Amino acid sequence: MKITTALGTLAFAAFLATNLASADELNVICSSEQDHCDLLVRTFEDKTGIDVAMVRKSTGETLAQIRAEAGNPKVDVWYGGTGDPHIIAAGEGLTRKSGVNTDDLLGWAKNMVDITDGRSIGIYAGALGIGYNSELLAQKGLKPPLCWRDLADPSYAGEIQVANPNSSGTAYTELATFVQLFGEEEGFKLLKKIGKNVNQYTKSGSAPTKAAARGETTIAISFIHGMVKQAVAGFPIVAVSPCEGTGYEVGAVSIIKGTKNFQAAQKWVEYVLTPDAQALAAQVGSFQVPSNSNSKMPPEAPDLTTIKLIDYDFATYGSSETRKRLLNRWDKDVKPASK
Ligand code: G6P
Repeated sequence: MKITTALGTLAFAAFLATNLASADELNVICSSEQDHCDLLVRTFEDKTGIDVAMVRKSTGETLAQIRAEAGNPKVDVWYGGTGDPHIIAAGEGLTRKSGVNTDDLLGWAKNMVDITDGRSIGIYAGALGIGYNSELLAQKGLKPPLCWRDLADPSYAGEIQVANPNSSGTAYTELATFVQLFGEEEGFKLLKKIGKNVNQYTKSGSAPTKAAARGETTIAISFIHGMVKQAVAGFPIVAVSPCEGTGYEVGAVSIIKGTKNFQAAQKWVEYVLTPDAQALAAQVGSFQVPSNSNSKMPPEAPDLTTIKLIDYDFATYGSSETRKRLLNRWDKDVKPASK
């Protein structure tokens, strides 16, 4: 009898410990830039008193982790990164509705809510482009690339860096953009030709732009706002909006299904949608377009209305089957073409 009571007390104490601890902590995977993620964590902790454990991981890597942990998630919230893998996670039942009010958001951010039946919400947008180090380009006597097709020119052999679309949402956006702009056959042919000029496929999407800023590669394919960040920091990076048109991302936030910290997760989602939290991005040079209609657009943010954007098909390229098929083909046809 006594033993049963003692065990009961212990079990109750353990239950309390788990639930009290979980009320004050949150595990976040952040797929935006490290400095942007750090700033959001710090300000959220100050505002709410909730402790956040955060790691930065690329979008494709995060999708892989969330899939692997399905049913027993170690992550509560996935913040940032390109929208397609968030849509895929929603479609695979890996994330859950947040129930957070989205009335003040712009149309493209609400579209993310509609496509995912409330499981993902748009937080920022950014267009894909070509960036080059103008000093290196001049030293090497190379012509500035103006179009995607220019990147296939043999004069750029070994000069281009881009991420691997398996790990990086940026590079998956590029892959999906090429297929939408040129059709699947032509798109892959062009990626393969460009691949001959690629010196490295990086894990993260912004790494090529940082490498171009440091003079380690001449040309980068990535998001234009990341190039603006380097230019504002004083590096000789020029961003080009490709002549054929380009794709764009809608960065998203999602709550992981099975989270034990749902209320804290909801608070995170509410927070990152506020104009105040969205204004922090520009402080660390993250110049995406914010999703709240009351947020101020940073003056440095690339004006998406002046860029020739494709009508990016998020439903198609955010489907598990399409992503798997395109990545398999990329692994087989494009990756081996690089030096
Ligand atoms: C950078 C950009 C974000 C983008 C993210 C995707 O951090 O600033 O706008 O969502 O890259 O990262 P990934 O490594 O998955 O390409």
